[in-house]
Amino acid sequence: MLASQRSGSGIPLVFIHAFPLSSRMWDINRSAFSKNFEFITIDLPGFGKSPLTSDISTMENMATQVTQALDQMKLDGKIILAGLSMGGYVMLQLIKLIPERLRAVAFLSTRSAADTLEGREKRFKTIELIEREGLKPFAERMLPALLGGSSLRVSLPAVAAVRTWIESANPQAVCAALRGMAERPDMTFLLSSIQVPALVLSGEEDTVVPPSEMEAMAGMLPESEFHKLQRAGHLLNIEQPQKFHDIFLHFLKRRIL
Ligand code: MLT
Repeated sequence: MLASQRSGSGIPLVFIHAFPLSSRMWDINRSAFSKNFEFITIDLPGFGKSPLTSDISTMENMATQVTQALDQMKLDGKIILAGLSMGGYVMLQLIKLIPERLRAVAFLSTRSAADTLEGREKRFKTIELIEREGLKPFAERMLPALLGGSSLRVSLPAVAAVRTWIESANPQAVCAALRGMAERPDMTFLLSSIQVPALVLSGEEDTVVPPSEMEAMAGMLPESEFHKLQRAGHLLNIEQPQKFHDIFLHFLKRRIL
């Protein structure tokens, strides 16, 4: 069973983390959301405190495991789901699996498209690098992708934290997730059927998923609103926590409460 952390009370707000991190990436957001919501974070297979059960973590299988964790929590009523990057890929599978249990969704620094051929090849090269040299050189490469230029320039404390999180991840889980992401399906077809309010957030300095791609995705969602956060890269909840809380809570206040 996947590990989860719960705090606060109110409508359940479930956050799914990015690759190759864990639910720790949401610690900085916990108190802002726990005031009015039940703030729930889940560790995907092999990350944080969750066990790894396969050498390939497909998005479908991770979503099934998240559903089982949610079932075990016996939550009352519908939930709000938020996924950042890989968490968003898993969230798309959850939207397919449990649409009737959702009240709203938040797409954070993520995309609905599958990997390009080039992207897939890069993932397999990364697996070779990790198997050969471990996580340190991988962390070095990931940092400029995960954090925006502004955060790197001012050496936000988050830079050191993210490096430590990557270096302390389970290499097998990292490789299993890379294999799963490489073979994930294109889920763009699903977007037009999402009938609940959708928040779409992008960091203006994100080079992994450019804001223009997220804006186009927002345009395919029937009930969406799109925001671009300045001086934020891919990990916008960590890089600009105050702006992230303001926009997200404002969205929830208007659309949900
Ligand atoms: C993530 O932040 O989860 C990753 O950048 C996703 C990816 O590699 O596609």
